[in-house]
Amino acid sequence: MTERIPDRLRSYFEIESVPLTLSSRDRPDMPVVIANRAFCELSGYPPEEVIGRNCRFLQGEFDNSAERARVRECIEHEQDDYFILANRKKNGDRFLNFFYLAPILVPDCQERFVLGTQFDVTNELHDEVEGHFRKVGDVFGGTVEPGYSNQVVIESKKLAAISVRNVLQYILETEAGRHAKSLVAG
Ligand SMILES: Cc1cc2nc3c(=O)[nH]c(=O)nc-3n(C[C@H](O)[C@H](O)[C@H](O)COP(=O)(O)O)c2cc1C
Repeated sequence: MTERIPDRLRSYFEIESVPLTLSSRDRPDMPVVIANRAFCELSGYPPEEVIGRNCRFLQGEFDNSAERARVRECIEHEQDDYFILANRKKNGDRFLNFFYLAPILVPDCQERFVLGTQFDVTNELHDEVEGHFRKVGDVFGGTVEPGYSNQVVIESKKLAAISVRNVLQYILETEAGRHAKSLVAG
């Protein structure tokens, strides 16, 4: 199934400064169908090396098995949720990817999509258990300590991700959003 993706959805992806990917639930192995500029900057991969692939390619050799099981469950039940996985950029740098997944409903379209909103939080999260800001980036595969400053970082990313999802759904669903197409398209 390869339905046409509405222009207003593509336009919004391009103007949004938050890294975004859109994957199709209805194509084999859920490939990315759109990756915006911010995502390509974050990952270092150009769009042609992202489109058509399942986002797991960013995980490289990292196991991530517990968190991946949660991701699969979330997608299967068409829910939204947040995850943190060890990933690698194209240049080989590892990073902690905090991402939000949410189903996106495209009116008049049979194909079902999942929106991914990704943040590199490697340098923002800190292990407060040690009492001084040891970077969680040193303990890839471990869990992020629920210290205050980590919570602030995570909550701010959650808010950004939810806003993006809501704006995108609004643009897709409402008449006003259809007009906003010309605004976002420039
Ligand atoms: C829209 C979308 C974006 C995703 N983005 C990422 C990502 O940036 N990094 C990552 O490691 N996994 C990402 N995933 C999760 C993987 O694609 C995959 O669903 C996960 O690894 C669990 O499935 P698996 O066990 O078959 O690999 C994303 C999934 C979707 C649907």
